[in-house]
Amino acid sequence: MKIILASSMGFCFGVQRAVDLATKLSKEEIKAATFGPLIHNPQLVEKLKQQGINCKNTLHEFQTNEKVIIRSHGVGPEIYQQIESLSLSYADATCPFVKKAQIAAQNFANNDYLPIIIGEKEHPEVKSIKAWGGATAFVVESEADFSQIPFVKKYGVVAQTTFNKDRFKDLLQKIQTAKPGNYEVNLTICSATESRQTAALELASISDAIIVIGGKNSANTKHLVELVSQVCSRVYHIETAEEITKNMLHNITTVGVTAGASTPDWLIKEAVNKMESMESMESLLEEMNVSVHPGASVKGTIVAITRDEVIIDFGYQSEGRIAFDQWSKDADKSLIEANFKVGDEVEAKVIARENNDGFIELSRLKLEQEKAWDSLGQLAEGEVMTVEGLAAVKGGITVKLEGNSVVGFIPASHLALARVNDLAVFIGQKMQVNVLEFDKAKKRLVLSRREILRNEKAANDRLAREEKQRKIQEAHEQKVAAEELAYASIEEGSITKGIVKKIVDFGLFIELNNGLQGLLHTSELSWDKGIKPIDFAKEGDTITVLIKSIDKTAKRIALSVKMLTNDPWQEESKALSEGMNMDATISRFLPFGAIATLSENIEGLIHISEIAEEKLTKPEEKLKIGDKVRVKLLKIDRKHKKIALSIIKAVLEEEKAEYTPFLNAKPNLSIDFSKQLASLIKE
Ligand code: F3S
Repeated sequence: MKIILASSMGFCFGVQRAVDLATKLSKEEIKAATFGPLIHNPQLVEKLKQQGINCKNTLHEFQTNEKVIIRSHGVGPEIYQQIESLSLSYADATCPFVKKAQIAAQNFANNDYLPIIIGEKEHPEVKSIKAWGGATAFVVESEADFSQIPFVKKYGVVAQTTFNKDRFKDLLQKIQTAKPGNYEVNLTICSATESRQTAALELASISDAIIVIGGKNSANTKHLVELVSQVCSRVYHIETAEEITKNMLHNITTVGVTAGASTPDWLIKEAVNKMESMESMESLLEEMNVSVHPGASVKGTIVAITRDEVIIDFGYQSEGRIAFDQWSKDADKSLIEANFKVGDEVEAKVIARENNDGFIELSRLKLEQEKAWDSLGQLAEGEVMTVEGLAAVKGGITVKLEGNSVVGFIPASHLALARVNDLAVFIGQKMQVNVLEFDKAKKRLVLSRREILRNEKAANDRLAREEKQRKIQEAHEQKVAAEELAYASIEEGSITKGIVKKIVDFGLFIELNNGLQGLLHTSELSWDKGIKPIDFAKEGDTITVLIKSIDKTAKRIALSVKMLTNDPWQEESKALSEGMNMDATISRFLPFGAIATLSENIEGLIHISEIAEEKLTKPEEKLKIGDKVRVKLLKIDRKHKKIALSIIKAVLEEEKAEYTPFLNAKPNLSIDFSKQLASLIKE
């Protein structure tokens, strides 16, 4: 690569003069500061600052013993007046060519011309010339300004010293057409500007690329850039050598270098040195035959962050380019700039060889994803991991693994136990999942949440069951303890009160005072066997009972009301004794005998064999209900309240009693049977 320097470039006379003046003051240790930047080159302004010459933007910032250095762009008359009124001294570094333009404008004004300054309205030099032109002075920057120019007889035209000459001529001609009149023109474009522009154009015509060095705020540098861009397609405006990239020199055979009038030599030298060293490095790399192919990983440093990409120097002849969407997911300029800066080291993957702009296409995202997949190792089916929902897609959602940038997929049917209607609820949600399918080569990771949910549900159900069981057990234990206390408080034979809780066919359930429940069986209601539970009491009634028996094991308490009174059977049976005969009334029949009533509450059984001598098949053959019979009390079972009766034995016994006195009795022979008979006959 050939590097050609423009035949005319860098510091012009006016700038050199201003810099020399400031440097001299600094060396003489005279306290001074510039009013505004001395020239439009930030690197030089910084250098002056290091030498003790600061830049101040208002006159009020100056101390009385501090000299005001008027910069090369000059100032208007009002500034000189202000300096005087503030009792300040000054060193005037206004470029003589600028001063010439100021005086020309002033003369035009003084001689009844309307001063017109062709130049950039906001440029400090133009402002200073306009100020000298007085209140009627008018600045024309483009054709759009023509309509504002008033129609007058005489126009006096001057130029911004660094304005493009051809453009000046073009605008002048158009003004004259638009506003006819008497024109006086003072072409104040300085020769330094003109010579630099001419040299730059010549250089551009023979170069593949042009590097223009100078402040981004420098008008003459910007004009150079505009000018050479009309001739050369690859023009790069840089302020310092650091901005030169390999891409600028890619496929370049000849590069031209020029610089604005405010560009110091040392900045030009640094730029040239860098280009020379880059060329050497490029050759070296070519010799080394660095292998850059899609899929290769490379390391490099950030050289620029542009509007939509990050430029990487990774030591190859071409620079790399990482588009923001290949930097990281959702990356944008502000995000990248907040975390990275020029000079930071970056590792990325080559995804394509040089593009049309000569950049190697790189992807930091792909490399990170590959690393992320590698870091997963071998995932086994069923392995549990934590993920966060990313986006709803067809058939399910994508998820990001925790602590890893790998993206997996959960089918909708594996998101929940029930059917999912709204996938959006899972976006941003953290959840645990199982691995369903893992194929590192295909970058396929399918996950399921269903099994986890099932297990969670089972665990929750189990806990709920255990809790329920615990409560039941606790309640049971409390109940047992309470029951034990209650049982301890009662004893068989005691009398207590209770409330009728329930009435059933076989008796009444009574809740005792201590909370226990006992059964008052039908048979315990009364000695009168005919009383039914429903006739005895109603639910809610309070009754007095006797605790007949307690079975703690079976938890049964037998109650009795009947036992609170004497048994009429026992009372009446006291008058009865075995062997005695008495009257009875047949009250009913059984297949094997007849029941006979002995008294109001006592009955006895006459077995069929005890009814008559002859053999009966049923008691009715000999007896009927209501028959009055004599019976013998064969046996009295007081415990079971049973009495065995016999008609046969009663009859036999009474017969026997009747005939016994006559057994073995001797006849009374003293009696005259015939006499008695004769007397009877006689009568
Ligand atoms: Fe003066 Fe021309 Fe330089 S006007 S400052 S000599 S570019």
